[in-house]
Amino acid sequence: MSESKNHIVIAIDGPSGTGKSTTAKMLSKNLGITYLDTGAMYRAITFVAMSAGVTPSDKEALLSLLQKTVIDFDSNNQVLINGFSQESAIRSPEVSEQVSYYSAVPEIRSALTAKQREIGNKHSCILDGRDIGTVVFPNATFKFFLVTDLKVRAARRYAELIGQGKQVTLQEVEENLRLRDSIDSSREVAPLLKAPDAIEIDTTQLSIQEQVEKIQAIVSVVA
Ligand code: DC
Repeated sequence: MSESKNHIVIAIDGPSGTGKSTTAKMLSKNLGITYLDTGAMYRAITFVAMSAGVTPSDKEALLSLLQKTVIDFDSNNQVLINGFSQESAIRSPEVSEQVSYYSAVPEIRSALTAKQREIGNKHSCILDGRDIGTVVFPNATFKFFLVTDLKVRAARRYAELIGQGKQVTLQEVEENLRLRDSIDSSREVAPLLKAPDAIEIDTTQLSIQEQVEKIQAIVSVVA
């Protein structure tokens, strides 16, 4: 892992439902650095493509959509698509079902990777995703890889979706996580993978507070 006293990049990778975004959000506040939810960017382009009826195999139409779509975040880290808040839309079960297919498309990955590097090179940043420590920022100051038992991840995600008023069953949530893990890990470009120098943290038995404390204790040496 590389270092810089002034500019730091923290990579948090791992499968869905391991608490990456909640942890990264809390750490970004505690450390006073930018948070970038890269999964939200893949969800955003998936939502745009689905709304336009463009399938993952239609590369030409996808490229044109990528050129026309501005993905941004407001000050509360809510995703903006062409200036409009679409936070709820990108978290829908329909988008969750399709996002792994769109995020396996190399053209989508290279466009979003470039944008993530641009942001991370400008500001000290904590990014969560699947390929941050391996592809987006292989020289990140710190790399973490979170893992959690599938049943625990499903129960956490289910509670979150029900809390948002979404109509889902625990079984559907578990199936979606299992399928996404499998597609995300087996795709050819930038698969979900632990970087050899990443610190693995099993969050199965940890509360969000505990996992934040664990990571913060490590990064505080530099940040
Ligand atoms: O973190 P999330 O569940 O919101 O991510 C949604 C999907 O986006 C995930 O199933 C895989 C994809 N993704 C990716 O391929 N690379 C990233 N850096 C982040 C997310």
